[in-house]
Amino acid sequence: MNKPIIEVLDRNCRLPPPVWLMRQAGRYLPEYRAVRERAGDFLKLCLTPKLAAEVTLQPVRRFGLDAAILFADILLVPYALGQEVWFVEGEGPRLDPITDAGRLEQLKRRIDHSRLRPVYEAIAEVKDRLSSSVALLGFCGAPWTVATYMVAGMGSADQSSARLFAYRDPQTFAALIDLLVSSSVEYLTGQFEAGVDAVQIFDTWAGVLPPQELERWCLEPTGRIIAGVRAKAPGAKIIGFPRGIGTGIARYATDLPLDAVGLDWTADLDFVREQVQRRRPVQGNLDPLALVAGGAALDNAIANILDKLSQGPFIFNLGHGILPQTPIAHVEQMLKRIRG
Ligand code: CP3
Repeated sequence: MNKPIIEVLDRNCRLPPPVWLMRQAGRYLPEYRAVRERAGDFLKLCLTPKLAAEVTLQPVRRFGLDAAILFADILLVPYALGQEVWFVEGEGPRLDPITDAGRLEQLKRRIDHSRLRPVYEAIAEVKDRLSSSVALLGFCGAPWTVATYMVAGMGSADQSSARLFAYRDPQTFAALIDLLVSSSVEYLTGQFEAGVDAVQIFDTWAGVLPPQELERWCLEPTGRIIAGVRAKAPGAKIIGFPRGIGTGIARYATDLPLDAVGLDWTADLDFVREQVQRRRPVQGNLDPLALVAGGAALDNAIANILDKLSQGPFIFNLGHGILPQTPIAHVEQMLKRIRG
């Protein structure tokens, strides 16, 4: 059977467009909260194949979405490099920060696949249980975004620790980015070998860099990941999501040979149609807060996106991850609107 998402990544137009949601497995679902409680720790949930597979499948089962996205986290790469990573309940991720060249030296030179084996096992398990029309997506974080957490040791409002590190010691920062490029190539290749149909590279913090820095720390390294993965897995399908990049999205779409470009909710869709969708399939971009609000605001936002983007190759998604307070009825309302 055909997978609508893969058809779109092959540059075909599908009406209605296929749909999946960033962070679709998560706390807005009671069935997720139940498994999460059973696992106790978030990392343990990611690294227990049976449980990770189960929460990966939950939103697909409930909503009939067109893709399952592997349940894992972008911070599993620093974990596999030997950095200490943990999650504080209600706060977010914590890492033992990389503050200088000496700390960087202490990381492994390449990822320890034995630490990631549960992820590959979860992929195989999901693959076995997934309908043949649903695509299985893997993912990793883009080097810049992962580096912001590795350097700060936590999430931050403006990523100032990593930006400052990159200005003060570009050589060491480049070594960190290079390590993340080679690690991401290996990790994504491992995901393809385990059975994913496509992968997404999340660059959540692409939007905080000036153009020259964006080129150096986001575009160029992401280009190396794409080339590296395709050298090992020819034809590998890759979606890029550079959040907050504004008009830089045109350059991102031109310079990087991606199969689709993810749009955040601030994207100007007339600009995108001309400058991005003529070159590449696009994915996005409903404001997650419109989904929380529901009602006419949600209907109008969906109608606008479909009006602007559904004439070309297009995958419906949110402009960022679904929020924990999202009512399930609003997700159902959204799917009805998209699918008619
Ligand atoms: O999309 C999916 O359903 C797949 C799973 C997925 C998670 N994280 C699970 C998760 C994916 C694709 C990610 C990516 C991720 N992780 C990103 C990039 C995308 C984005 O949202 O910007 C980033 C920056 C991270 C790092 C991370 N993980 C943060 C900052 C947090 C804390 C914020 C939060 O929402 O709690 C996490 C934790 C996390 N990752 C949760 C989930 C479901 C919540 C943990 C819980 O259940 O308590």
